[in-house]
Amino acid sequence: MLSIDPIVMNIRAVSTTPYLDQKPGTSGLRKLVKTFQQFHYLENFVQSIFDSLEGYQGQTLVLGGDGRYYNREAIQIILKMAAANGFGRVLVGQGGIFSTPAVSAVIRKNQAFGGIILSASHNPGGPDADFGIKYNIGNGGPAPEKVTEAIFARTKTIDTYTVLDANDVDLDTLGTAQLGEMTVEVIDSVADYAELMQALFDFDRIRQLFTTGNFRLCFDALHAVTGPYAHRIFEEILGAPAGTVQNGVPLEDFGGGHPDPNLVYAHDLVEVMYGNDAPDFGAASDGDGDRNMILGRHFFVTPSDSIAILAANATLVPGYKAGLAGIARSMPTSQASDRVAQQLGIECYETPTGWKFFGNLLDANKATLCGEESFGTGSNHIREKDGLWAVLFWLNVLAVRGESVEQIVTQHWQTYGRNYYSRHDYEEVEMEPATQLIEELRSNLSTFKGKSVGRYTIEYADDFSYTDPIDGSVSQKQGVRIGFTDGSRIVFRLSGTGTKGATLRVYLESYEPDSSKQLLDPQEALDELIEIADEIAQIKILTGREKPTVIT
Ligand code: G1P
Ligand code: ZN
Repeated sequence: MLSIDPIVMNIRAVSTTPYLDQKPGTSGLRKLVKTFQQFHYLENFVQSIFDSLEGYQGQTLVLGGDGRYYNREAIQIILKMAAANGFGRVLVGQGGIFSTPAVSAVIRKNQAFGGIILSASHNPGGPDADFGIKYNIGNGGPAPEKVTEAIFARTKTIDTYTVLDANDVDLDTLGTAQLGEMTVEVIDSVADYAELMQALFDFDRIRQLFTTGNFRLCFDALHAVTGPYAHRIFEEILGAPAGTVQNGVPLEDFGGGHPDPNLVYAHDLVEVMYGNDAPDFGAASDGDGDRNMILGRHFFVTPSDSIAILAANATLVPGYKAGLAGIARSMPTSQASDRVAQQLGIECYETPTGWKFFGNLLDANKATLCGEESFGTGSNHIREKDGLWAVLFWLNVLAVRGESVEQIVTQHWQTYGRNYYSRHDYEEVEMEPATQLIEELRSNLSTFKGKSVGRYTIEYADDFSYTDPIDGSVSQKQGVRIGFTDGSRIVFRLSGTGTKGATLRVYLESYEPDSSKQLLDPQEALDELIEIADEIAQIKILTGREKPTVIT
């Protein structure tokens, strides 16, 4: 596969001018493909990453993406820049493909210096849709804020980048190539990840479920990166029948769909799982493979419940049989995990939105499982959330308990009470009124305490601020919280991952301890809180929207 002409092996310094919009959001820099295709736009950001790091000369970088449009071009550019900047080796997934959790696993396994992930996660792909880039550090997790801030600062002053003049590397053939002094290894995108999963879960037991248990799984890869991973793990290694994985071929535009595993966008799966003769278990993952949606037959598992249930059942799974050091959840995630933690006598940490805040807790062994309400679940096995890991965890629990998804969830509610939970998203609203909405809430915070609204009384109102218990760093303005005396909550925040206008997220939660009253539809159980949210924040008036775009 070596395709380099030594005459053109020349490192070039290229003059450039800064772009002022390269501020990384909740998870890296996400923009329209067209934005990334601007002259030197990607190069500026990549050079700013390298300029913000120290000590990577001769070290290993892991590189890959979710296969969306512009993935291959971006990889060729980054490889030549990594070579010019002095990396010793780059491990790149075959075809340029790596799921986000696989990058994290490969960084850790190879003790790489860091990794670059090309993805805009659950955002649509294609020439008119989104692209993204994110840097992960040596623990395998997203760069912490101090690194992303340094990268952003650099993007504002950058005047040169360096690149090796060389031919493109063949990304499709496994093997090694040389780019100047740097070695490029094209590796199997799935192998290391599959090996890690086998070390954590009881594959024999799960295999029995498929081969002798009459048990049926439907996994929907939404034409995104998990297709090859799911084929290999579920169908080849675990013996699930062909056809278990649907929409399993990764496409550059995800088949025109929105690769976000929720009840709205994963409609093919929802149809199967709510249809006649539905399988026992259904799951989907997102564009880059870090999210998961879990369904039983005619039954949806709220992500906030999923993390709590996995925590409560963790000792049934080989990789977690010694028990959990702690649980961590993002602030807007429901408090269902807090109840499990309390029962287990372990800590439940509450962090700002975004996986990067879990890294320190995992590294310090304060938390073993982590979860976000946004279909994100994971553990200390890597430093990203992990979609297929969550599916395998559920499969392992189902295999051991021999009960249905619905039975496991309803029993959980009987034991711990039920946290009714829903998130209402108002997507692509105009930036100005969305910002105004949050600003007005912020400025009214001090007037809320003690107020009665309907049958609720406000106990506290604040803008969430987090002090990292490990390094003491403080992250402010992480979401407006209104807490009621009975433990119910409403949280308001603006998305940090969208690329068009603003997305307002409203998170609603109430608690029902009495199992005879627990079977309501969450929208019904939360209806009064939904009205209160509108009243407090003037959502309809300010956004001009009668109802949310997506309800989960
Ligand atoms: C969203 C989710 C958040 C998740 C992030 C990356 O961020 O809400 O939990 O960590 O995507 O997958 P947001 O758009 O809300 O900033
Ligand atoms: Zn994702």
